[in-house]
Formats: sequence, C-alpha cells, structure tokens
Amino acid sequence: MAQFLSTETGDKILADDLLVSIGNSGAIHLIGTRIAAASATRPLAFVESPTYQWAVNVLEGCGFDITPIHVDDNGIVVDEIERLLIEEKVRPALVFTIPSHQNPTSVNLSLERKRKLIQLAETYNFYILSDEAYQLLSFPQYSVDSAFASQDNTEQGVVFTMGTFSKIFAPALRLGWVQANPHLIQWLVNHPLLVSGGGLNPLIAGWIEPLLTHGKLQTWLAQLRQTLWQRYQCMSNTLQQKFP
Ligand SMILES: Cc1ncc(COP(=O)(O)O)c(C=O)c1O
Repeated sequence: MAQFLSTETGDKILADDLLVSIGNSGAIHLIGTRIAAASATRPLAFVESPTYQWAVNVLEGCGFDITPIHVDDNGIVVDEIERLLIEEKVRPALVFTIPSHQNPTSVNLSLERKRKLIQLAETYNFYILSDEAYQLLSFPQYSVDSAFASQDNTEQGVVFTMGTFSKIFAPALRLGWVQANPHLIQWLVNHPLLVSGGGLNPLIAGWIEPLLTHGKLQTWLAQLRQTLWQRYQCMSNTLQQKFP
C-alpha cells in the first residue's frame, strides 16, 4: 500500500505512516471518536461549506458541534479560520476538509493554504481531517496532488489523510487507509475498537493486497482516469451543443 501510494502521489510514504480503515466514513468516525474522547469540553469541528453532508453527520454523531467555513476557488478559506482563532478566540478540536476535487465544488486546496493550516493547527492545538476520496482521480494529463499528511512536518503530527477504495475500485469493499505521522497512527491503533477487534476488515485487505503487489490496481486506475476523462469530454461537448 505504501509503495502504491508513493508511486501514485509522488510522496514518500512508509508502512508506519498507514493504517487500514473501513473507508472514509469509518475513518472519520474512528478519528472523530478519538479526538472527542480526548476533549475536556464539548468539541467543535470547523467544516467546509458546502461539503459532503454525511461527513458532517458522522462528526455530529461523534459529539461535535459544527461551524461552517467558506470555500473559494483555492479551497477552504484559511484566513477565515485564522480570524476566528485570533479575533474571536474560538477553539476547534478539528478542521474537516476535502482538499482534492472537493465534493461538491471540485476545487483544490492550494499548497500555501495547506501549509498555513498546518501552522495554525500546531499553534492552536487542533487536528486536520483530510478526506481524500477523490485525490487519485485526477484526469490523466494532470498530476495527482500530494497528500495533505505528506506536508505535515510537525513533531507529533496534526494531519490525518483518509483515502478510500470506494471511488477507485468498489464501495462495497468497505476498505480504505489513513495516512499520518506514526505517532498519530499509533494513537488510532490504541483505539478501543482496534484493541478489541484486532484490526479493520482484514479479509478484504488481504484480497486487495495481491492486486497492489502485482500492479493490477495501478493499471485499473490509469484506465479509470482515462474513462472519466472521456465521459467528461462527452458531457461537456453535449452541454455546449444543446445549451450553447
Ligand atoms: C467526500 C467524500 N467522503 C467520503 C465518502 C464516503 O466514502 P466511503 O465509501 O469510503 O465511506 C464520499 C462518498 O461519496 C465522499 O464523497
């Protein structure tokens, strides 16, 4: 998995940076419950507005209050977060973002904003939940964005990048991964759910493993990007013809 992600993203990702998840909905819940349990008061989450509503519902289910933050052409407006932190002294426990091909706006979060958000997270003591459901699905002629967690050079780690096989293979697998500083990965491994259960979805993970090691998933992903590009062109041409 580490090798597959390193090749696809250009990031240097090691096995110790990764944890198998049951997909991004499950990862949000796993991380959300960990952070909520560590909060002395009722925790607050900053989320993009608009965003994938089910992620918000999962966070609410973990006990978070929600504050929406605007999204513009460069992703979540980090200056708005900074203003809330400094001027209004609001203290979130986490910021939830979809940095690549954001759902529903499709914008990408700029590298400059990612770096600034990491600085703020370290200073004001909150985590960043980066939902990378669409990171690997750039059109063929565009390179895939580096994972947010790969920008995180803080000592203990502040960014959790969550990836899923739902969009690149099949949602019914209920399989994904979390990428983060090994310190944060260990924090998740110590989650009572994993301690009691011993891991997440091992059979399906074992079934996917040979597809990764034999390069089948890489081939499939390249075809998928090409197919999505063709569908996009078809839709775009049709819209231009029918609604000039
Ligand atoms: C941004 C985003 N995150 C998460 C999910 C759900 O992912 P999973 O199937 O891995 O739980 C979706 C599904 O549409 C999504 O669009």
